[in-house]
Amino acid sequence: MLRRIFITMALLLLALVVSCNLFLPERFAVNAPMVAQMLGRTIDAPSSAQVESRYRVPEGFSLAIWASELGNVRWMKTTATGDVIATISRAGKVILLERDDDGDGRSDGEQTLFEGLNRPFGLELHDGWLYIGETDAVGRIRFDDDTRTTSGEYERIITGLPGGGNHWTRTLGFGPDGMLYVSVGSSCNVCLEEDPRRATIVRYRPDGSDETIYAAGLRNAVGFDWQPGTGKLYATDNGRDLLGDDFPPCELNDVVEGGFYGWPFANGDNIPDPDFGPGQEARIATSIAPAHPFRAHNAPLGIHFIREARVPAQLQGAALVAHHGSWNRTEKDGYKVVSLHWDAAGRIREVDFMTGFEKNEDVSGRPVHIVEGHDGAFYISDDYAGVIWRVAYGEGGSASAAALRAEPVARDPLAGLDAEERSSLADQGRALYAAHQCATCHDPEAAPEGVAVKPLADLTRRYDIAGLEALFSTPPSPMPIVPLSANEKRALAVYLLESDTL
Ligand code: HEC
Repeated sequence: MLRRIFITMALLLLALVVSCNLFLPERFAVNAPMVAQMLGRTIDAPSSAQVESRYRVPEGFSLAIWASELGNVRWMKTTATGDVIATISRAGKVILLERDDDGDGRSDGEQTLFEGLNRPFGLELHDGWLYIGETDAVGRIRFDDDTRTTSGEYERIITGLPGGGNHWTRTLGFGPDGMLYVSVGSSCNVCLEEDPRRATIVRYRPDGSDETIYAAGLRNAVGFDWQPGTGKLYATDNGRDLLGDDFPPCELNDVVEGGFYGWPFANGDNIPDPDFGPGQEARIATSIAPAHPFRAHNAPLGIHFIREARVPAQLQGAALVAHHGSWNRTEKDGYKVVSLHWDAAGRIREVDFMTGFEKNEDVSGRPVHIVEGHDGAFYISDDYAGVIWRVAYGEGGSASAAALRAEPVARDPLAGLDAEERSSLADQGRALYAAHQCATCHDPEAAPEGVAVKPLADLTRRYDIAGLEALFSTPPSPMPIVPLSANEKRALAVYLLESDTL
């Protein structure tokens, strides 16, 4: 009986998908990636030749696939010991990808932490707990980063969240105030909701008590993060569908406590919605306009403010946003990771960071979320190719790391310097290395008892002068930030690269 119901449902879904493609005007046609994703399918991961030829990251960054065959991999969280925890929502799974200790540029292995959850999506680590956002609940369990194991029982500390519907993902985030924020998208494209928690960000104490609606009118704020320095909460939001190719914009919102952001009565810069706006003028007048409009149907998901990752100066203070890409637009748009830059007046500029997921209407991937690794690199999940990308600065150009490893090129990162400059900088660098006691952590002979030593080896293959300068500006934890002038950074870099080639 159940089986028959299931088969009937599957046939109905198939008929719906086929008829959408045949009969709807082209703009509303459900396209290939959408169908694939509705069915939870992924495509093959791009080959290294495709990575080289179609994907682009900014100058000085390398790009490589770090883990593959992951299915619909969505949200991620890096642990204190450098592993990546990720949700495979449709499979009901939470997995752990081991950090790359063997140095082959890929995760060392995959472990399943959990199975059988109800569409797990958001993840957080807080006070020794791993928190998981299921579509109708938030649960937590004790997690140990060192042993990579959970212990005790998984306890659902928040239950009865309105689940499912169009926007079933529940993103989690601990704020600077130590409170747990959960985004609950709307159940529909555009409608009046029955449950007041729909289309909001809800806030709780870490134990799940004291539920408060923090901000409302947010159709589907999948990604949110707090800006370092200001502590402001910024959230992405996806604009409604079926109003054409170029309207309404998707949004970046500066989310304040008690704020109302317009949905379902207004879109974009408080423009009344044709279906739900009439008669709601007073409500619309209270709505807060977006801090930045994204292009329509770009579907911004994850947002991540750059904190410790190694980046060149122009990316410091920026945020990365993953545009999952349009599904109901005549010409595909989105399908890339962008960086957002705040100027002194608070205006926001959007610049491409990683492109190539879509080329001439052919889709090879859809970025979802961005996290920073323990190693100063970015990790980007792609739920269409079923991979996690690693994007790292200062590890040798924009070629893929895997390709670089396969064909090591003999190169001298100091080749641009004349002999005199080279030796004078190296001398200054040697003195700085001694003055700042770098050896205490980097030279096994000089390290005091009990200090974990990280020998410096093989730097020329992975860094050039600019790469090392950037590393000194944002050193990987636990390396301290040493106050150095631009010239001192350059001298230290030259010294390290020079000694490395000896
Ligand atoms: C308190 C200990 C400590 C001190 C002091 C320290 N470092 Fe480090 N450094 C580390 C650790 C640990 C790492 C590796 C972090 C990681 O990648 O997880 C590191 C990483 C590095 C790297 C990158 C290594 C690689 O293989 O990618 C360089 C280069 C470096 N340090 C240079 C220096 C210089 C130059 C100084 C002095 C100005 C210095 N460090 C001072 C602890 C220290």
